[in-house]
Amino acid sequence: MPPPKNDLPTHSDHFSRIPKVRLQQIKFHMAPTNSTAFQAEVVPKAPEDPLFGLMAAYRKDTFERKVDLGIGAYRDDNAKPWVLPVVKKADDVIRSDPDLNHEYLPIAGLQQFTSASQRLILGTDSSAIKENRITSLQTISGTGAVHLGALFLRKFYKGNSDPNVYFSNPTWANHNQIFTNVHLPIKTYPYFSAETKGLDFEGMISSLESAPEGSIILLHACAHNPTGVDPTQEQWKKIAEVLKARQHFPFFDCAYQGFASGSLNQDAWAVRYFVEQGFELLIAQSYAKNFGLYGERAGCFHFVTSPGSDATDTVTRVASQLAILQRSEISNPPIYGAKIASTVLNDDALFAEWEDNLRTMSGRIIDMRKSLRTKLEELGTPGTWNHITDQIGMFSFTGLTEKQVLKIREDAHVYMTKNGRISMAGINTKNVDYVANAIDKVVRETQ
Ligand SMILES: Cc1ncc(COP(=O)(O)O)c(C=O)c1O
Repeated sequence: MPPPKNDLPTHSDHFSRIPKVRLQQIKFHMAPTNSTAFQAEVVPKAPEDPLFGLMAAYRKDTFERKVDLGIGAYRDDNAKPWVLPVVKKADDVIRSDPDLNHEYLPIAGLQQFTSASQRLILGTDSSAIKENRITSLQTISGTGAVHLGALFLRKFYKGNSDPNVYFSNPTWANHNQIFTNVHLPIKTYPYFSAETKGLDFEGMISSLESAPEGSIILLHACAHNPTGVDPTQEQWKKIAEVLKARQHFPFFDCAYQGFASGSLNQDAWAVRYFVEQGFELLIAQSYAKNFGLYGERAGCFHFVTSPGSDATDTVTRVASQLAILQRSEISNPPIYGAKIASTVLNDDALFAEWEDNLRTMSGRIIDMRKSLRTKLEELGTPGTWNHITDQIGMFSFTGLTEKQVLKIREDAHVYMTKNGRISMAGINTKNVDYVANAIDKVVRETQ
């Protein structure tokens, strides 16, 4: 028999008997599904990374003759990624080692790799190595090394009461993000002259002279990204003189050693010169481009201190703090890429073969620079084009405006970053005429 109607629990009786905690849980589950602690005012949608956005647009494009000049990775004459033959050999050596395992590396990484990296960047007879004035950690490629350096400087650099880090204008876009993330204030020094499409040396020097004493100065060791413009050795000497006089702190980012000129020693010249001058400095070293180990994330961070009786003590203390930073960020670095590089760097025959592979890559790029310039000059494209061969490394700052960049993408399906930077690695004997004609057309049509 059903209970009399007025004995039925009412709606409010029902809720009053539910424990409070449960009620809160029910309320939480009934809340609108878009409820979040990360509202749009707090976490606005960030713009897509321009370079990765460009790559996605290129991939979607179905036009047969499309050209990718955005990529920051080497391509062969068939526009294909190139696994260096020496890397294949090193891979065989590693895989056929009966003792191969997948254990953790130490916090500072593979010791044979970090010490070979020191010799590579500073030279085998470097006094900094002989005098134990250097400490190094294997990092997540060059980006990880820049980040570790930024973190270290933010925490410990007291060369000035309120230090700023100075970047070249322009610089690799990620420098801004990395240093912003660790809350180191950023300033810039002039670098590229739009007029000459070369170095604005006077602007750079006067800015470095007027920066507050003890500022941190980020320098591209070679093959400046994005401009492809490097100081001459005489200009580097003057830069060193100003940094010393102003007690600035140099941080070298070296992402293209051997890839720029084809000579490992030549591309390391500026870093070695600064070390010879007795600077205390940082170096971020990448093996992405020069070994084609992009996705393997092999890199190295070096701290070099000045000669002095306290040098060993300084290095020991700094190394201990860097180990803590590294431990909290990545625990320990990945093994495969470092093993490949280490196998090559520590074997004379493989090393010589690597130098040969480097000459193949840099040589092809230098040839493409010559071809592109020659074609543009033959076409009589308005403007001067000597900067294409004067610049060095993976990139060239063409001087094309954003409007021209968008138009050449629309009309000819040639993709490059909005600042007019082209990756020379994207040019080959099969598309150089097409690219030159497309540049010629866009320049004439937008004059
Ligand atoms: C100037 C500069 N620094 C650092 C890097 C770091 O690259 P990765 O993290 O791939 O070694 C790059 C790569 O494009 C670069 O151009």
